[in-house]
Amino acid sequence: MKIAILTSGGDSAGMNAVVRSVVKTGILKGCEMWVVREGYEGLVRGNAEYKEATGWDTPPFPNNESSATTESTPTILNSLRFGDGHQLRDGTGDYTGGRTLKGRYIVRVGWDDVRGWFAQGGTLIGTARSKAFRTPEGRLSAAHNLIKEGIDALVVCGGDGSLTGADVFRAEWPKLVEELRSQSKITEAQAKAHAHLKIVGLVGSIDNDMAMTDMTIGAPTALHRICEAIDNINSTASSHSRAFVLEVMGRHCGWLALLAGVAGGADFIFIPERPPKGMPWEDEMCAAIQHHREIGKRKTIVIVAEGAIDIELKPIKAEYVKEVLSERLGLDTRVTTLGHTQRGGRPCAFDRILPTLQGVEAISALLESTPETPSYMIGMRENKITRIPLMEAVEMTRAVAQAVSDKDFEKAMSLRDPEFTE
Ligand code: F6P
Repeated sequence: MKIAILTSGGDSAGMNAVVRSVVKTGILKGCEMWVVREGYEGLVRGNAEYKEATGWDTPPFPNNESSATTESTPTILNSLRFGDGHQLRDGTGDYTGGRTLKGRYIVRVGWDDVRGWFAQGGTLIGTARSKAFRTPEGRLSAAHNLIKEGIDALVVCGGDGSLTGADVFRAEWPKLVEELRSQSKITEAQAKAHAHLKIVGLVGSIDNDMAMTDMTIGAPTALHRICEAIDNINSTASSHSRAFVLEVMGRHCGWLALLAGVAGGADFIFIPERPPKGMPWEDEMCAAIQHHREIGKRKTIVIVAEGAIDIELKPIKAEYVKEVLSERLGLDTRVTTLGHTQRGGRPCAFDRILPTLQGVEAISALLESTPETPSYMIGMRENKITRIPLMEAVEMTRAVAQAVSDKDFEKAMSLRDPEFTE
């Protein structure tokens, strides 16, 4: 089987460990392994010139590094500015190089190409939020590019949007193949050989916002980063007896904020799934913090998830929380937005172990896949690696968001955690 892997959406620590695990496991199982650089964008662009493949002009690439491959740097390692520039090797150690990689987004890789990747932050094969892949023309070009390289299966590592894209692509696949055949872009034989596309998804996201899995790849590392930041802030906050309002990432999910608050000893936490019930919430927060000060705390830490809302679904912003603390309680207050420091950097141990185990499972799922089996998402439940139909997990994730926008917060919490009780 010829298998390609791509990373998509926001990067997360552990994505490189996914690529390493998938590539090495695939090779061990006798597969030919490929990477797609720059996410779905690379799939759309493929290895022909973009214009030649799609008839469109090449749009400016979101990441300047992506076009940096030249004929004098004929290896993926050079183009990724990683390692010391070996030629591409296949699983047997033979050179597969010799072809120019200029404009190549879909590249065959070997064992050595992913050596040591478990310890690297971000994603070395690049990622993008591709607009082109959201269009039918883009997906047609993506299908064409895969078929031209003879690839039968795709591993996608990304968040819920990227995994939804993967499922749409697989569902559309027969139609895309038929269209390519009728336009004579592929032969009858190619259409027959590529009648089905096998897809498997791994969840790479710092937000831990995917339903039906306990942990997403990158979330533990981001949580560590936030905890370290809280530890650092604690000492300065305590010195000046100040209050700090920390805004943390997570999009519409409060997992990072909640767990960082628990691990860092926060006084008050705002998350989207469970807005403060007291109305106005300002009173509830001030009463709690006043109490903590009265019993002797010298510092105050309030964590605000970036998607935090009040019971009326209005956003709760860190700057406003600061104003309330300063004006009502007279606290000398500062706001710290942790931003992308949460997302970058070396993965923690768990963000190496989880992707390694899930990568092995992803290859098994592909090798066992038939036209009848659904596309699977590889997850983790109660410390065990699991396979869940991709669309079920995506739909459940959407149901949580829907419950929040219906103001049914208990439902949102219980969909996230079936054992949740108030
Ligand atoms: O989904 C991951 C995430 O880091 C979110 O927590 C955050 O809202 C978003 O991506 C930030 O995106 P960008 O890097 O495009 O600013």
